[in-house]
Amino acid sequence: MIGAVGPGTDGELDMEERVGAEKQGLPLSSELMLLIHATSPEVAAYLQRSRAIAIPMGSTEQHGPVGLIGTDTLAAEAVAHGLGGRLGVLVGPSVGLSVAQFNLGFAGTVSIRARTLMALLEDYVLSLARQGFERFYFVNGHGANIAPARAAFQDIYARWSLGTMPGHAPRCRLRSWWEYPAADALRKRWYGDGEGMHATPSEISITLHVLPGSDRAVAAPRPPALPAAFLRDHGGDNHWDAATHRGQFADGRVGSDSALARAEHGRELLAAAIDGACDDFTAFLEEP
Ligand code: NI
Repeated sequence: MIGAVGPGTDGELDMEERVGAEKQGLPLSSELMLLIHATSPEVAAYLQRSRAIAIPMGSTEQHGPVGLIGTDTLAAEAVAHGLGGRLGVLVGPSVGLSVAQFNLGFAGTVSIRARTLMALLEDYVLSLARQGFERFYFVNGHGANIAPARAAFQDIYARWSLGTMPGHAPRCRLRSWWEYPAADALRKRWYGDGEGMHATPSEISITLHVLPGSDRAVAAPRPPALPAAFLRDHGGDNHWDAATHRGQFADGRVGSDSALARAEHGRELLAAAIDGACDDFTAFLEEP
């Protein structure tokens, strides 16, 4: 877990952002408030001004010869902390264990079942909803989180749809950091096919930026580009079992030329993703 956003993303509001935030009725803050660093009375006070929380979601799994095991969680935390610092949004504990069974053939991977992740998300949201939280914004760094999270959200809403919970249903959104348009444009421009699907140069660039000195001097020659059919069939980390996966991708990278990663790219990608997260989060709160 990183304690603060990286250099160049200090959460300071410029004048344009300050005016924009005032118009949107958002709290003005450049202070990052983490739930685990807050007291209970401070959280109760926060609820008087906002009913929203941001939650990073990652994974704990191999990322090839140069990527860190915590790459997905580190990237999601960096974006969520940037969002929290800029807009004064409370940031909850990261969900750092996820579905990664396809990577269990590689040392260091921890996988939980999809049903476990769904149960965890339901309990996480329902706990805070009981206290008055209404909008849950998950910043995602791992493709295999998408399907279970969406399924969990539907099961959460179903409690209200079936009339077993009082009041209004909370709302949840999951957004993967690479979906934010400016970040997506950068990674496509810099890496093209070399971005691949796993141990991507974009996510490793972000970890190089937030953890200076984490680069590894290990040779990782460019892997062949992934066929279009593979991209179609295996998006969202919809992979087969661990033995098959290791047989297909011997060093753990899935079509990604990780060696293209640069800390400077990470700084720009992170800034673009935080901008996108702030815009998307604001739109999420404004939805009627
Ligand atoms: Ni990853």
